[in-house]
Amino acid sequence: MPETVLITGGAGFIGRHLAHALLQRGDRVRVLDSLIEQVHPDRVRPAELAGEVELSVGDVRDPDAVRQALKGVDSVVHLAAEVGVGQSMYAVDRYTSVNDYGTAVLFQELIAAPVRRVVVASSMSIYGEGLYRAADGRLMEDVVRAGRNPDGTWDPLDDQGRPLTPVPTPESKVNALRSVYALGKYVQEQLTLMLTRQYGMEGAALRLWNVYGPGQALSNPYTGVLAIFAARIANGQAPMIFEDGAQRRDFVHVSDIARAFVLALDHPQANGEVFNIASGEDRSIEEVARLQAKAMGRPDLTPEITGKARAGDIRHCIPDLSKAEARLGYRAAKDFGEGLAELAEWVARQEAKDRVAEARKELEMRGLVA
Ligand code: UD1
Repeated sequence: MPETVLITGGAGFIGRHLAHALLQRGDRVRVLDSLIEQVHPDRVRPAELAGEVELSVGDVRDPDAVRQALKGVDSVVHLAAEVGVGQSMYAVDRYTSVNDYGTAVLFQELIAAPVRRVVVASSMSIYGEGLYRAADGRLMEDVVRAGRNPDGTWDPLDDQGRPLTPVPTPESKVNALRSVYALGKYVQEQLTLMLTRQYGMEGAALRLWNVYGPGQALSNPYTGVLAIFAARIANGQAPMIFEDGAQRRDFVHVSDIARAFVLALDHPQANGEVFNIASGEDRSIEEVARLQAKAMGRPDLTPEITGKARAGDIRHCIPDLSKAEARLGYRAAKDFGEGLAELAEWVARQEAKDRVAEARKELEMRGLVA
């Protein structure tokens, strides 16, 4: 049955792809978005937002705007959020206000006008470090890095100084909230699960890994390493890598993310659950930087390994996707090489302002890169 779906923050990167996927299968889509300057420099309706989408420009913290936006809506996908982990460590009031309080306002209005289902974008950041295995085979859930090791290496160590090996992290791993951003994402997912259950709605949360693809905010230097690298490479600058570049991430294409949200909206078994959503392939940041420079036709731009650490960064977190696969039938489809080539093609058509130096200064000034 076609529905009317409200996507908060739907003028952003993920929301635009999701809107497209929902429209394609016959849903009606409304978007509530405040078009923040850091993501939408001109503060106008993005060209990539499908024409059929009804855009309501407003803030998720404004009860009147939310009330209006909820009129006649069957389901909600809550994406509205500030998304820079490093930035969240100094813009504490803004991040807490938009991410935590914004979700509270949304639910305050949903209590008065309940919908069938709410799906919220959570994040792998709530795990802190992922799950690791020690040399003696023990699984370690609560790994904390103390910074760089005395011998100059970066991987977390066991109590005898031996490096730990990252293993797939299931949804059941204990959380370790290491940034204001992570704290906010945890609040968002728990409010969603708690209040949908309480008020006769359905709820689900998707813990997303590193999302990439065309339409990613190239001029937002606070997040999305592929967008950050793309903006630098497009401007003839080598990617700058924190630590030694051997930290591993799972990059998932935005088309797979859009499909995961559609599954989470539809599937009977999604209700009341959290799901890891990623590609299932992890890579080192250095490898990714090299592949990207090559895909963009600049293999000469060898990544610069800075040996510096960004505050709040985790070393490794790789996903266990068995729950999403078993319950939702989710499986990522996009090949990484193909995704990078498409991203390169899209970037070539954009004017990518490289604001990385500016952002780095902001973090350095506050001792958040050292
Ligand atoms: C973080 C969050 C994730 C969130 C995402 C987008 C954690 C553990 N994860 O991912 O949940 O959804 O941001 O907000 O907090 N890097 C460089 N050079 C750069 C920029 C980044 O080497 O110029 C490195 C970082 O040190 C990191 C990796 O690239 O190791 C990925 O960084 P980024 O894209 O910012 O995302 P995460 O921190 O993985």
